[in-house]
Amino acid sequence: MRAKKSDRQAHGAWMTPTSLATHFARRALSRWIELPSEPLGERLRLAPDPLSAPPRPLGMPSRLLSVLDPACGEGALLVAAASEMADMFALGAPDAEHADEEVRISARREARRLILRDIGRLGLIRGIELDPGRAAVARASLVALTGEPTAGDRILCADSLERAWPKSDLVIANPPWLGGMRISGQLGDAFRKSLVRRFPTMRGTSNLAVAWILKAAEQRCERASFLMPIGISQGDSRQAWSPLIRDKEYVIVEAEKNFAWPGDAAVTCCMVHLDRCAT
Ligand SMILES: C[S@@+](CC[C@H](N)C(=O)[O-])C[C@H]1O[C@@H](n2cnc3c(N)ncnc32)[C@H](O)[C@@H]1O
Repeated sequence: MRAKKSDRQAHGAWMTPTSLATHFARRALSRWIELPSEPLGERLRLAPDPLSAPPRPLGMPSRLLSVLDPACGEGALLVAAASEMADMFALGAPDAEHADEEVRISARREARRLILRDIGRLGLIRGIELDPGRAAVARASLVALTGEPTAGDRILCADSLERAWPKSDLVIANPPWLGGMRISGQLGDAFRKSLVRRFPTMRGTSNLAVAWILKAAEQRCERASFLMPIGISQGDSRQAWSPLIRDKEYVIVEAEKNFAWPGDAAVTCCMVHLDRCAT
């Protein structure tokens, strides 16, 4: 699926701002841990500085998790997921709750550095991106974040609707948003027809983003979190993926609806966190 132009309005490539990526990654990862839930507005207002924030009363995953973004762009969500995971584990480091603030901060900082290096070395962060330039930025960002030269090796430049996804603990995605009426205009009629052939429930005005929910289900992903336009929960878009819920293939474990995209864009969006039901 090649975009003719690269602007976000035309192709739905809305790169996720850091504040939102952090909140989204945290909520997605929280299925493995206990986190106090914070209203989104609060979270976006607080510029998060996990190293100096007081320790949060939380558990942590029993192991580091693998994370895939199948439309990873420049890697905003992957960087946020790796950072959040490292912060969670760093809170469990010896001295992470030391009474002396300096000791505490330096213990957490060193633990975070080592955890990020492990995340990179173990290839836990995976991405698929159609645009080679964006894929290259994502690779470089992961190397810079983790300090591990191989950390970007699992970012593939490919069409994620076509190729198989690497099996991962968590899928996290902000896929391209394009209303059904605009798919043919922007990507061509042949593309739209092949999309509906490929995902037959995507009729009418179903948003392009739905294809990634359907593909996640096809790949039998255990846990998948999506950041999408609010339209995904209405009309043809909703009809296209609701059979997954109706047929108890997936359950919505959490959803946040109707929040404004940060910044000046007048876009309302939602987050949907899906868990695969045991069969
Ligand atoms: C909305 S942007 C989000 C990027 C990133 N996940 C973020 O949150 O900043 C969607 C990305 O999906 C990419 N994309 C579009 N179609 C794709 C496909 N079939 N396979 C892989 N990537 C695709 C676009 O190039 C774009 O970078």
